[in-house]
Amino acid sequence: MTSLIIAVDGPAASGKGTIARALARHYGLPHLDTGKLYRATGLAVRLASGDPHDAAAAARAARSLDPELLDDPDLMSGENAEAASIVSAHPAVRAALLETQRAFAGQPGGAVLDGRDIGTVIAPQAVAKLFVTASPGVRADRRHRELVGKYGDAAPGHATVLADIAARDARDSDRSTAPLRRADDAALLDTSELGIAAAVQQAIALVEAAILRGGQQQI
Ligand code: C5P
Repeated sequence: MTSLIIAVDGPAASGKGTIARALARHYGLPHLDTGKLYRATGLAVRLASGDPHDAAAAARAARSLDPELLDDPDLMSGENAEAASIVSAHPAVRAALLETQRAFAGQPGGAVLDGRDIGTVIAPQAVAKLFVTASPGVRADRRHRELVGKYGDAAPGHATVLADIAARDARDSDRSTAPLRRADDAALLDTSELGIAAAVQQAIALVEAAILRGGQQQI
């Protein structure tokens, strides 16, 4: 049986989630937004009034994740993104979440996963790897527009959003375990100048090229 694993990595607000969902629809594959696992871990620590810097507490939370947290309205908030980014730097948290992600990637037929370390750590065997990026300014514009749409006047200002994105980029790229980096064999997709439809079209073209190059894996 053939298995098509597509790894989509990149920094916050690069468009990787939108692209991964579109690829999953296009190829009829299941999709996992792995950021949600780290966000749920951060949220569990916050709900228990714990400190995301406390590696042991964060690892306990990751090992006993309540799936209901994945639908919590606070999951995608800015505060929780920061908690997610802090807990995700603990090696024990990454270890606790590894098997779930590998099992998802390994299901028959394949899957699309998006995150920071899919092509490098979770599924280095992926048939197609994309590293989706965009300039920090463009990413801050997108996130700011999204927050204004959601919270109106109560949304944080553009400068705050840009600073948050820069802080998260630095934390994700500088950590010692599974830092955010482009896999050597990942295709780069810069979405700074692209709308959603064009970005998705280019992503599909890159996946098609990778399939042609590598052929689908025979299990
Ligand atoms: O993708 P998203 O922005 O929802 O991820 C939230 C945080 O989770 C990121 O800032 C990153 O620190 C962490 N993360 C990670 N590895 C992944 C996915 C997300 O470290 N595979």
